[in-house]
Amino acid sequence: MTPLAAVMIHAPALPIPLEPEAQRTMKKTPHPYEEQFRFADPSEPIDYEPYRQTYVLPKWKDSRGLYRKSPPRDLGTARHENKSVYYSPDVMEQEWERIWSKVWLLVGHLNDVPTPNSFMRVDRFRESVLVVRGRGDTVRAMYNVCQHRGARLVAKDFGKAAKFVCPFHKWEFSPGGSLLKVQDRETFREEALCHNLDLPQLSARVWRGWIFISFNDDPMPLEEFLGPEIIGRTQPYDFEKMIRVRDVMQEWNANWKTSHEAFIEGYHVQATHPQLVPAVDAYHAQTDLFAHGHALSIYQFMSPAPQYAARKGGKLELAEEHRIFLREAGVPEANWPKSSKDVPQAVIKAKLARKGYAIDYSKFSEGQLVDDWGVGLFPSTEAFMHPEGVFIQNWMPHPSDPEKCIYQAQVYAVPGIGELPSFMAVENADLSGKTVLPRTRLDSNDMENLGPVIRQDRELVPRVQAGIRSKGFRGGVYSEQEIRIRHFFDEYYRHMHLLK
Ligand code: FES
Ligand SMILES: [Fe+2]
Repeated sequence: MTPLAAVMIHAPALPIPLEPEAQRTMKKTPHPYEEQFRFADPSEPIDYEPYRQTYVLPKWKDSRGLYRKSPPRDLGTARHENKSVYYSPDVMEQEWERIWSKVWLLVGHLNDVPTPNSFMRVDRFRESVLVVRGRGDTVRAMYNVCQHRGARLVAKDFGKAAKFVCPFHKWEFSPGGSLLKVQDRETFREEALCHNLDLPQLSARVWRGWIFISFNDDPMPLEEFLGPEIIGRTQPYDFEKMIRVRDVMQEWNANWKTSHEAFIEGYHVQATHPQLVPAVDAYHAQTDLFAHGHALSIYQFMSPAPQYAARKGGKLELAEEHRIFLREAGVPEANWPKSSKDVPQAVIKAKLARKGYAIDYSKFSEGQLVDDWGVGLFPSTEAFMHPEGVFIQNWMPHPSDPEKCIYQAQVYAVPGIGELPSFMAVENADLSGKTVLPRTRLDSNDMENLGPVIRQDRELVPRVQAGIRSKGFRGGVYSEQEIRIRHFFDEYYRHMHLLK
């Protein structure tokens, strides 16, 4: 697909009328939640349970009652008429000040910086940051900018350094950020070097192996930001052991929110990813909405989408995807079920029977062994959790163009698992943990290396961006399957209005 040219008719720089307009367009409605819900034409009754925000996974997916569905939230029915958030350069600047600079951002894992003085470079918007491993499980984060005349210090994504040497005039900084050496020091007057010339530090914390940074000098405690729901629901996963086995970045021709929205609703799966409907029930996703804009979407892998099952009239033979799931779980072919409806139970049974494996499956709920647990961290991190590994995607603001974004896809996996589930689309993964994987930057036209599913999304989002820009588009309306978009904007406008 050829990316559509961005339509660059930016509004002149005016004071931003975000607050009143957004309040008008995103206001809550007083109607009870259930009464607003209209899904199908009543003349065409559907023979499966329609999705509601209250949809709960079947009990056999959590037989020990480890997790409870979060209470539903009434987020209204208003049309999102405030379209400028998707293309205004002024909004882009405000988002950086009021959102991106305020929250915690997941940027990597301790195993990306495995030994003292290992570092990684993290770029967000126009900033570049060095994250450096200290002693034990500590990290530091500092701005990647020389204090002499502002050159970017480090160009490498990952490495290990006893010191950072600026390429411009060779000033040297310690891994902790202290100025070590000024080239030709005698040519500076003493007073010129009296200023603070160490690298400015940022907030950085490690939670269960994951590294978070914040551009906020005084952020809320990281555990408070993540919240008890995310911390509790992710407790069984072997995060601390995980290593990065895939890491690609790519510029997309759409605003970061336009792009991210396509990944927080399962509504588009039947149209955009038709190959998935025999083996992914994204319709009956359990959606949990949490504080601080975070959420969880549980998509039922291995189960057919209900629209597909209805069309098939209950004759649900195994699709290729089911065979792969069964094979990878080690179910002998002789024991494969006849109907695809029985595949999840067969896979769960096989995983629980596995002895001496790198993963102790018994600590997970049954559903976590088969389903896709998509944890969403505000503003735009989506982490699809599986016991074997985590697929993390980020959509970040482009440094200068609100109609573009920077996409990042990473897979972290538990070492020693033999092979990764094939749906993670990582070929020849190095699961040894002996090397630090480089980061790959894909050309913005490269569709081949995204994997077949993400490619379908990637081809769609520039069309959405172009349409949003049209005078003929009045603003988005959202189904209950897209409740997370409303939830996102609830938190988004809270920041844009209140945290000035
Ligand atoms: S800008 Fe870094 S040494 Fe001059
Ligand atoms: Fe998609």
